Amino acid sequence: MAKSDLLQAYWQNKTVLITGASSGLGIAITKALAPYHVTFGLLSRRKDKMVELAESLSQGNSRFWIRVCDVQDREDVYEAVNEFKEYAGRIDVVWVNAGVGAKSNLFKWEWESFESCMQTNLMGAVYTTKASLEVMIPQNHGAIVAISSVASMRGLPGSSAYSMTKIALNTMMESLATQARDIQFTSILPGWVETPMTAGRKNLWWLIPADKAAQKMITAVARKKFKYIYPWQMFLLYHAMRSLPTGFYIKAARKLFMGKKK
Ligand SMILES: NC(=O)c1ccc[n+]([C@@H]2O[C@H](COP(=O)([O-])OP(=O)(O)OC[C@H]3O[C@@H](n4cnc5c(N)ncnc54)[C@H](OP(=O)(O)O)[C@@H]3O)[C@@H](O)[C@H]2O)c1
Repeated sequence: MAKSDLLQAYWQNKTVLITGASSGLGIAITKALAPYHVTFGLLSRRKDKMVELAESLSQGNSRFWIRVCDVQDREDVYEAVNEFKEYAGRIDVVWVNAGVGAKSNLFKWEWESFESCMQTNLMGAVYTTKASLEVMIPQNHGAIVAISSVASMRGLPGSSAYSMTKIALNTMMESLATQARDIQFTSILPGWVETPMTAGRKNLWWLIPADKAAQKMITAVARKKFKYIYPWQMFLLYHAMRSLPTGFYIKAARKLFMGKKK
């Protein structure tokens, strides 16, 4: 099937809930899906950004339901998911996208940042996924799309919190997929994408624009992939790194990233 037909067939008239819809990838995904007559549920803590996004797309044929939601708050997430179900009638796809980085370099450790990363990327993703499954399983259909990261390839130097949350997210998705046979589970592992999260950072390999990333991701979901790693250079690096024995990886990472004494 041609890519345009595939996208049309999968996304047309879907009801789609997106966390982290006020910025970066959340905005790019919303824009990429807007042509498909989608009923959107947009969630984040910054209402003004979501209203701005919906207004910028108001000439199209999609409709927007907007709600402030802090994914660190389990009750708030459950209420938001159920309110969207009431509004839209059903939930077809949920993008578990909200996430933050963390200052968890061993030598520049910040507890507040570490805990916020765990509570957002891990518990926030668990709350969103479980609340959505409680709607989708009785429907006998639905798709959970989790935005993980290639940072889940190994325990990367200086990234103990962030890598841990994304590794855990991959594992949870895999585990749930073994049990909920009517539900689509797609884990997406982006490399570096141009968003506020990466703004100002140097030496980002194979950085890609957010709109290009969004097109890749909506296509992977339409193809019902279990795991999608992009760009292709990161796909190769991910698998090469995962294949290294642990002792070899740690020694190589010390040499490459930490200097000889650390
Ligand atoms: N950019 C990259 O290179 C890259 C690479 C791999 C993976 N990722 C992953 O992609 C996802 C999106 O990242 P991004 O690059 O688009 O970052 P971003 O531009 O910083 O956006 C992060 C989004 O998460 C939301 N968020 C953060 N904490 C939240 C909370 N407690 N409750 C509700 N929403 C919350 C933010 O909304 P509010 O602040 O308005 O609440 C914002 O919409 C993240 O999971 C990130 O780990 C990004």
